[in-house]
Amino acid sequence: MPVDSQAESHATRLSSPLSFEQSARQVRDNSQWISGGVNSNFRLNISPTPLVFERGEGPYLYDVDGNRLIDYYLGMGPMILGHRPEALCDAVRDQIERGILFAGQTQVEAEAARLVCELVPCAERMRFGTSGSEVDQAALRLARAATERQKVVKFEGHYHGWFDNVLWSTAPSLDVAGPADQPVPVAGSKGQLPQSADALDVLPWNNLEILQRRLAKGDVAAVIMEAAMCNAGAVHPAPGYLEGVREACTRYGTILIFDEVITGFRLAPGGAQERFGVLPDLATFGKAIANGFPVAAIAGRADLLDMFSSGGVVHGGTYNAQPISMAATVATLRSLKPSLYSLIDQRGTRLMEGMREAFASAGVQAVVTGFPQIFHVAFGLDAPARDYRDLARSNKKAYVAFTTGLLHRGVRALERGAWFMSVTHDDAVVDETIAAVADVARELKSTGVL
Ligand SMILES: Cc1ncc(COP(=O)(O)O)c(C=O)c1O
Repeated sequence: MPVDSQAESHATRLSSPLSFEQSARQVRDNSQWISGGVNSNFRLNISPTPLVFERGEGPYLYDVDGNRLIDYYLGMGPMILGHRPEALCDAVRDQIERGILFAGQTQVEAEAARLVCELVPCAERMRFGTSGSEVDQAALRLARAATERQKVVKFEGHYHGWFDNVLWSTAPSLDVAGPADQPVPVAGSKGQLPQSADALDVLPWNNLEILQRRLAKGDVAAVIMEAAMCNAGAVHPAPGYLEGVREACTRYGTILIFDEVITGFRLAPGGAQERFGVLPDLATFGKAIANGFPVAAIAGRADLLDMFSSGGVVHGGTYNAQPISMAATVATLRSLKPSLYSLIDQRGTRLMEGMREAFASAGVQAVVTGFPQIFHVAFGLDAPARDYRDLARSNKKAYVAFTTGLLHRGVRALERGAWFMSVTHDDAVVDETIAAVADVARELKSTGVL
């Protein structure tokens, strides 16, 4: 049997103490109202079925089949404090008593902004939005206005939201992606304006020379990147790469944007820019900024951000700085103490090491790499990935069989290989996870999937 179909049939054959039939039925039923039964394309086609949840608590989710699952999705990254942290729930209840939406300013939004500016190294000024996709657009607009240039450089495998002008080469198939040193922009969706790629150059990440050569033409408004490539993997910047990018952007008058939607408030209180000690001109945030509430932010140089108030650049949004979400933001940011990061560091490191040992003793070739706060697991690679091309060569079908097997043992991990940690994932939860990983790795090895 070909390896692909072996992996697929194995996913359904694994001994299944947990069943997900109610979830499957409800998603099927709901699809009469909701397209595909889900409200984001990234929730479609999950094996064995997209799940329907009843509640979350700490590191756990409880689904409609009555299963308790250790959750490493964490809402796709936001829930660094775990599900339903008490201080955040209290703050939200309190704000509901005061009112919901005012189309005006509140003290709670000022406090949230003060905390962002205090925590984030590049944040001289900021604005709130509601999604990462949207604040990335705000950053690109500011950069174009400030430089009076149009071209933007993005990198293969980096994701900056689902809008036309950036949904290029986020996960291209290698047979259409062109040469590694000169990637061809590949659209991520039907219906995307083909011309939206005209103002975009897609380059390989972690290759300073290629970027320097491109910027030297002097026509690039902005370079946008995840400073550690965390949407597709958990790839570290090569030593000196971010410093070199910073220097080249300054030299050629290009605005450097760090998309910190995943790394912000997760890799460190001040995000990747704090962790790696390199300051962008602008940075965007979402996810962990409000532990599950729809909050995003753009922050950076005051002269750039002030183009919103006095430079003719428009930024709007009915729900920007929505008071309940702002209460959640303040509660989250006040919780981000150094002790929280060292706890996650310790437990995340133990989990990564435990998984490496489990794979090694099962004879499974796997790379566990990244950061204790977000790491990535890939099968079939013999060294940590340096860029998208490396990641694209991993055995994705086998990985889906792996996450399916884990789910049947009560562990929910993303099919794309990312593992998000929260402060509520304690040693007992880590041990239970490692035991499940060892079990599934052995089983996949013995059946030839891995
Ligand atoms: C790095 C990065 N940027 C931007 C986004 C878009 O954020 P949102 O889904 O809130 O629009 C995401 C979402 O996963 C992301 O990972």
